Amino acid sequence: MKKKVKSTASRKSGRTTAAACRAVTLIPGDGVGPEVVGAALAVLEATGIKIEWDRQAAGMSAFRRFGTPVPDALIESLKRTRVALKGPLETRVAEGWRSINVHLRRTFDLYANVRPTMNFDGVHTPFNNVDLIVVRENTEDLYSGIEHEIAPGVVESIKVITARASRRIAKFAFEYARTHRRKSVTAIHKANIMKLSDGLFLKCARAVSESYKSIRYQEQIVDAACMRLVTQPESFDVLLLENLYGDIVSDLCAGLVGGLGLVPGANYGDKGAIFEAVHGTAPDIAGKGVANPIAMILSSAMMLDYLGIPAVGDKIRAATASVLRAGKVLTRDVGGKASTSEVTAAIVRAVSRG
Ligand code: NAI
Repeated sequence: MKKKVKSTASRKSGRTTAAACRAVTLIPGDGVGPEVVGAALAVLEATGIKIEWDRQAAGMSAFRRFGTPVPDALIESLKRTRVALKGPLETRVAEGWRSINVHLRRTFDLYANVRPTMNFDGVHTPFNNVDLIVVRENTEDLYSGIEHEIAPGVVESIKVITARASRRIAKFAFEYARTHRRKSVTAIHKANIMKLSDGLFLKCARAVSESYKSIRYQEQIVDAACMRLVTQPESFDVLLLENLYGDIVSDLCAGLVGGLGLVPGANYGDKGAIFEAVHGTAPDIAGKGVANPIAMILSSAMMLDYLGIPAVGDKIRAATASVLRAGKVLTRDVGGKASTSEVTAAIVRAVSRG
């Protein structure tokens, strides 16, 4: 049975302030970013809600214009609004500056990355009954960026795991499960090998689980979890992961339901949030007008939940689900031939009808 698309609101502190002014930083981003962010804006506009957008450049597009991938104006804007809708940003492989995404998440302490992944009627995949929430720790682990060469041909990358960050992400996952009536939280780890770091992460998750007796707590080694995700995805509910495993496993989960074009995401902190699709800049299709805008559109719906207007978020989710279910206007990644703008127009029409 495929589940209905439903609200994934996270009721965090900071939300009320954001709801009161509804000023939001808009980061079109790189690659397909401007195309899919433009689509989300069209859908948000169709709902009739008023948002004061503060458009800011970041990443490669900012570097080209201002000589830096993180202009001061961007940071000032985020400090003011505390909420952003963001397109993907390019990070060069094995060269160039460190990830701007990691920088923004750490600067604003957006410690919880939430990626709801579920089947959609109309999108056929070999996997059914997928309804997962990936909760990924966002601030430490191997993403701490502590790397050095200790001798020619020998480098070290340091994995940092702290009890404080592990406890708060575990608490976030259990609170999320409680608020959204989820049944289980599975901590995914490699503590058989990384006994100290992943061991600490698990210890913290276990301790936190003690306060949530009504939610089943399970643990699984990451490699076995990957296999079980593709053989019995229905046996998982909320997944609790460190930064690196969370990054990898969320793309795997996207593959279960039809690909990266469908999966939204949010980065939550105690004082703000950035909403963005799971996918990257998709350089292979950028500028061709064929990117699937749905992941970004659903990310904008998560933003509305956070801004305290989940009914409007639900309207966007329902309109998106209806377009997918009808199966007539789909981008090619999910088996159709339509362009980004045709899918956007179909969702705008569904929002206006709804
Ligand atoms: P990617 O997610 O950009 O692309 C992987 C595959 O998925 C490609 O075949 C692409 O065409 C497809 N795809 C992605 N989004 C799609 C969409 N909306 N519709 C249809 N197909 C879509 O991952 P990749 O190629 O590994 O990374 C490219 C760049 O993006 C890198 O610079 C990377 O650092 C950056 N990136 C940025 C993220 C962010 O800003 N949050 C997240 C992930 C990657």
